[in-house]
Amino acid sequence: MTAAHAIALSLRQVRKSYGAVEALKGVDLDVPAGRVMAICGDNGAGKSTLIRIISGAQEPSGGELSLGGKRAIFRSPHDALVQGIATIYQDLALAPRLSIWENVFMGAELVRRIGPLRVLDKRRMAEQARGYLQRLSVPIDDMDRPVERMSGGQRQAVAIARALRWDARVVIMDEPTAALGVKETALVLNLVRKLREEGRTVILISHNMADVVALADRVAILKSGVKVIERDVAGLDADALAHMVMTGKA
Ligand SMILES: Nc1ncnc2c1ncn2[C@@H]1O[C@H](COP(=O)(O)OP(=O)(O)O)[C@@H](O)[C@H]1O
Ligand SMILES: [Mg+2]
Repeated sequence: MTAAHAIALSLRQVRKSYGAVEALKGVDLDVPAGRVMAICGDNGAGKSTLIRIISGAQEPSGGELSLGGKRAIFRSPHDALVQGIATIYQDLALAPRLSIWENVFMGAELVRRIGPLRVLDKRRMAEQARGYLQRLSVPIDDMDRPVERMSGGQRQAVAIARALRWDARVVIMDEPTAALGVKETALVLNLVRKLREEGRTVILISHNMADVVALADRVAILKSGVKVIERDVAGLDADALAHMVMTGKA
């Protein structure tokens, strides 16, 4: 990676305390645009806290964030989403009984006018949802299918389609393959590659070193609230990475 590569998101001296617990102790991080950046670290290292801050779910106790070079403040996840950061949590936040298109457009439905009335434009939402899934190489015809009747990997695709609906420049994924088998994992890794091919930036929290090595361009390792390593992934194998996560040493 060249020094000139554009930075999508950066953190400067970001701190977060929960009472006496310092979950993040002044983290600097530059997330390159259009790349996949993995965040690794043992339990308790501060990964979830970092993600909650970047996604607008929590405000930092100190430090600054900037987005595309401009100072940014995210007051809520919706606020971050509007500014271009979508977060896909492990539970995916999908409504299982609702259809694909309803999940993709939840909270931001398309409407059309009939005279003085505004009604949901179901057909356009279904068409667009199908288009998002096609872009992700997950061709599904029936947009009325309830999400509960989809596989784990396909559900991830619906969650990502929702991020595309917002045209998110940065997509954060928290342990996307943790609950999946081999085939579904391959599908999800492919979704991440598609996002990168579209020029989007992906921040991937993962315990799976094989996934990180297969997918990420760059990795940051947290240990006890400190970023101990940040480097390109090229030249690393899963064992070397696991060793770094464990010891915090390059
Ligand atoms: N809401 C909270 N209240 C108190 N302590 C918390 C809270 N969330 C996280 N912590 C503490 O902050 C530290 C970092 O946690 P976390 O960000 O969840 O790490 P990770 O996701 O890497 O496992 C841990 O010591 C954890 O116990
Ligand atoms: Mg966590």
